[in-house]
Amino acid sequence: LVAGVDSSTQSCKVVVRDAATGELVRSGSAKHPEGTEVHPDAWWDAFCEASAAAGGLTGDAGVAALGVGGQQHGMVLLDADGEVLRPALLWNDTRSASSAADLVAELGAEAWARATGSVLVASITATKLRWVADHEPELVDRIAAVALPHDWLTWRIAGYGPVSQDLEPDLAALVTDRSDASGTGYFDASGDDGRGAYRYDLLALALRVDESVARQIVLPRVLGPAQDGGHADPAHAGRVVDGTTVGAVLAPGAGDNAAAALALGMRAGDVTVSLGTSGVVSAVADRPSADASGLVNGFADATGRYLLLGVTLNASRVLDAACRMLGVDHDGLSRLALAAPAGADGLVLLPYLEGERTPNLPDATGSVHGLRLATATPEHLARAAVEGMLCGLADGLDALVRQGVDVQRVRLVGGAARSEAVRHVAPSVLGRPVEVPPAGEYVADGAARQAAWVLAGGDEPPSWGAASAGTVTFEAEPAPHVRHEYAHVRDAAFPSLRS
Ligand code: XUL
Repeated sequence: LVAGVDSSTQSCKVVVRDAATGELVRSGSAKHPEGTEVHPDAWWDAFCEASAAAGGLTGDAGVAALGVGGQQHGMVLLDADGEVLRPALLWNDTRSASSAADLVAELGAEAWARATGSVLVASITATKLRWVADHEPELVDRIAAVALPHDWLTWRIAGYGPVSQDLEPDLAALVTDRSDASGTGYFDASGDDGRGAYRYDLLALALRVDESVARQIVLPRVLGPAQDGGHADPAHAGRVVDGTTVGAVLAPGAGDNAAAALALGMRAGDVTVSLGTSGVVSAVADRPSADASGLVNGFADATGRYLLLGVTLNASRVLDAACRMLGVDHDGLSRLALAAPAGADGLVLLPYLEGERTPNLPDATGSVHGLRLATATPEHLARAAVEGMLCGLADGLDALVRQGVDVQRVRLVGGAARSEAVRHVAPSVLGRPVEVPPAGEYVADGAARQAAWVLAGGDEPPSWGAASAGTVTFEAEPAPHVRHEYAHVRDAAFPSLRS
């Protein structure tokens, strides 16, 4: 058996699958505090609870290998004793927006894109380090290691941790993978002949220190896609949750989007639109990208290739907000939206409720345009919310196409893909048929598949049967007027976006 973990912004999910066939054997989950700033111990506690809910990870049906997929970019600062120096600043924390702008001004957008695949925005780890350098400078000298959420959790599962918890703080034991490292802003995924290489000069720039000082900071060792990352530690892991992960081989793990791509078996031309807390439109590519406009993040995937991503901060929560405004649940919202015409008779909702990342508008707020007596109805507002959220993702899809992605197939996953209205409206807004695979824990599944790959070895992950069973395809006439009206309102509200 193998286990896959999804340590996300809200919760921890654990799946246990048969290593050879991929069949689901057990699963469990546990919530932890949400927010944009969280102490990593919350991830460990949720992991322990979720593992226990999944029936424990050892015993008669023991888990031979385990992989962790995690929310990307979160900044975990450790001192020499393995203590967390401050709560982690997560991908959805926008306080470092001006630090991002400063860093982009210092090096230039094009240089960032060439060096790291992405122009920095507040989500990316390097900007959080600059924020710390500027606002909490007393911490900088104490930083002995910088890790990401999945690296830190893998390290804890391996039995390492802070001295204050009687654990061994071996920072050199921190490991990561190329996909998650590629979201830091100080890693070049195409460097070192495609294996990837840290850019200590950029780490130094972010922290306002000399490169020689930056080189003293431990960054997690970047493992290959199927490289063994050590073992879960029986003494420590077992002590916290009886029987947890004793002796399992640890996989390198991955960023959540790369893990999901691995579970979905994405190939060139496949585009996945994932509607969770973040909205992500992604495609696998053989070559790195460097989009100086900043719309596309050129990250690495979990198989040795690249993962091009457009990420919005406003996906499922736009629908949650519409439900609250209209006093309905998600089924009710869906019924209302489907009762209004495509384009909601000109009612447009700009979905930037949490600021925005793509396009880079960290301080933006959402708004509703085109209210008339005829459009001031629950049906129109519901429709405008669904269309507005999807138009944000459609902008990301256009940006991927501009980077050379030849879209063959679009798959819709994530919590909001369960909404009937989203499934029916998406093809008209995205201008293509949309496949909706069955609801699944794709991040945890990808991490489990990676663990099976570590056991099996070889150049490609084990094939686990088609992820397409149970997929439903939705088609609709493209409705270009929806995108046109949206673009018109968006550009009028944010003139800097006019192309
Ligand atoms: C990707 C990103 C988000 C988080 C969500 O760049 O910021 O998708 O990984 O967990």
